[in-house]
Amino acid sequence: MVLDLKGSKILDMLNFKGKRALITGAASGIGRATSLRFAELNADLQLVDINLEGLKELKSEIESKYGVNAEIFRVDLSKKAEIDGLWEKLRGREPDILVNNAGIYPFRDFLKIDEKFLRFVMDVNWTSVFWMSQHMIRSRINKGGVIINVGSVEAFLPFEEDLSHYTLSKAAVIAFTRNLAKKYGKKGFRINVIVPGGIMTKGFKDVAKNILKLDLSLVKSGIEFKWRLPLGRFGDPDEVARMIVVLASDLASYVHGAIIVVDGGFLSA
Ligand code: NAI
Repeated sequence: MVLDLKGSKILDMLNFKGKRALITGAASGIGRATSLRFAELNADLQLVDINLEGLKELKSEIESKYGVNAEIFRVDLSKKAEIDGLWEKLRGREPDILVNNAGIYPFRDFLKIDEKFLRFVMDVNWTSVFWMSQHMIRSRINKGGVIINVGSVEAFLPFEEDLSHYTLSKAAVIAFTRNLAKKYGKKGFRINVIVPGGIMTKGFKDVAKNILKLDLSLVKSGIEFKWRLPLGRFGDPDEVARMIVVLASDLASYVHGAIIVVDGGFLSA
């Protein structure tokens, strides 16, 4: 599918009026910041999270500030039945843009990981991306669309010792993105993966708090992480959100199967 955008104004390409964006993990951090940026750019929103209170709060902020339509869906993405139920509700108004952002990063020593824990992390972080993408592509096979998955720098440079399960889940998200891109580009889909690192979100801060309580040795790795950052600071969720909206827009019409790193230079140093 070739888009003729030569006469288009750059700012018009960033206008999502008439488009629907579905964002998972919308109640907090990167997902929340991304939802706000899409709303500012006039997209209608389908906000998905397990945290209903957070979704309600975000919906009222979005509707009062931006006047776009924001629907909220409480879904536990670790459960396929709930994902199937979500797409049943969305039938006939499937999103143009899907951002698979929800993810968890609980620390656990590799030798203490059991089957239940590993399955749970994989289900939230990676299996959900598989099912959400399958629904998206099935439902829009003749229309195409945009899928943006969220990986992690940990998939390229495992920095924290107690995140083997997380590293694995995010490596899977990245490999999967490239596989889908190969097959569905010609069908009108653009599919990419954003790779954040060191972003100050609620999830990130909770980890930092737990580290302080549980294991002082991990404080060292937190400090080392910051030292390694060429920009010399952690990132703000909005700095990832801004890249996600650009990637979702026609500004990025030839960006496909790409790994877009947003990490303050962490992987480069
Ligand atoms: P966060 O913890 O602030 O937000 C994650 C959201 O996902 C929360 O609203 C949570 O309720 C939701 N969620 C968790 N489990 C869910 C489930 N089973 N079903 C539905 N929703 C669920 O996290 P943050 O930091 O914004 O992370 C967003 C994504 O970015 C994640 O995939 C994470 O792995 C990734 N990432 C974050 C980095 C960072 O430095 N903050 C670095 C690299 C990757």
